[in-house]
Amino acid sequence: MSVELVHEHDTENAGSDLTLTPWTPVLGTRVSGYRYDGVSVPAEIQTTLKNALFNSGVLIFDPGVVTGANFTDFVRFLGEPLSYDGPHTPRAEDNPAATIVDSTHDKFLRNHIWHADGTFKPQPPAFTALYAKQVPKIGGDTVFSNVTVAYERFDAPFRAYLDSLYAVTYVDATGHLADRYLDAEKAAAQRAELAPITRPLIETHPETGRKWISANESYTSYIKGVSRIVSQNILGILFDAIKASEVTGRVSWEEGAFVVWDNRVVQHKGIKDYSEERRLLYRITLV
Ligand SMILES: [Fe+2]
Repeated sequence: MSVELVHEHDTENAGSDLTLTPWTPVLGTRVSGYRYDGVSVPAEIQTTLKNALFNSGVLIFDPGVVTGANFTDFVRFLGEPLSYDGPHTPRAEDNPAATIVDSTHDKFLRNHIWHADGTFKPQPPAFTALYAKQVPKIGGDTVFSNVTVAYERFDAPFRAYLDSLYAVTYVDATGHLADRYLDAEKAAAQRAELAPITRPLIETHPETGRKWISANESYTSYIKGVSRIVSQNILGILFDAIKASEVTGRVSWEEGAFVVWDNRVVQHKGIKDYSEERRLLYRITLV
C-alpha cells in the first residue's frame, strides 16, 4: 500500500507532499512530507491519516512534524483526550495536556510488558500519541504488534473457539497496583475504583470490521468458564502469537519523533535495554 495525496490548498507548512508508505508488510505507516502548522489539520489529511491508522495500526511521522507543545492539539481530530488524574501521571512542563513517561521518575513503570493502554478501564483509550522529548543514544525502542494480523494467522476453527470466549481484565492482574501502592488503604481505594472487567477475548474494530485480540499480558487475569490450565495455555498461545516477528516492528526513537497508534489494532511495549540515560516521552490518550 502506498498512498500519495497532494493537497490543493497547501500553505507553506501544511501537507504539501503528504506521502504514506508501509512500515512493515503488515504493520504501521510512515508519514512523510507533512508538517502541522499549529492551527488546523486539513480535512483530506485527517481522512487519509485516519484510514492509515485504522488499517495499519501505527503512524510513524518524520521528526519535526509536531512539537512537544503542540502535538496534543494536532491529534484532536482523532478524539477527545482521556483525563488521567493520579500521582503516577505527572504533566509535561511545557504542555499541561501531555502526561510524561519518564524512566527517571517512576521505577514501577510497567511499560516494558506487552499491553494496550488503559485496557483495565471500562472505556479504554482508542488512540495514544507519543512524542520523544529526550531519548537514550541507543536503546529504549518501542515495539509494536498488529493484534489483528496475529489473530488472522490462526486457523479458522481455533479463531471460532477464541471468538466464543470472554476474559477478565484487571488493573492489578500482574501487580500494577500492588507494586506501586505500599500504603494498603490507597491500594484498596484504587482497586475499588478499577474493578475487574469482563470483555470478549476477541473484539471487532468499529471502523474496519476486522477482529483483534483484546487480551494482553499486563492486564488480562484469566479466561472465564475454563480451567486455570486451559486459561493459562490459551493466553500463552495468544501472547506468543502477539510477539511473533512476523507481526511486530520496532520504533527507534530520536528526539522530536512522533508516533500515534490505535490501541484496538496494536499492542506495544517499551524495550528496557538502556540503563543510566533518561528516556522521557510525552503522551496523550484519546477516546
Ligand atoms: Fe503503553
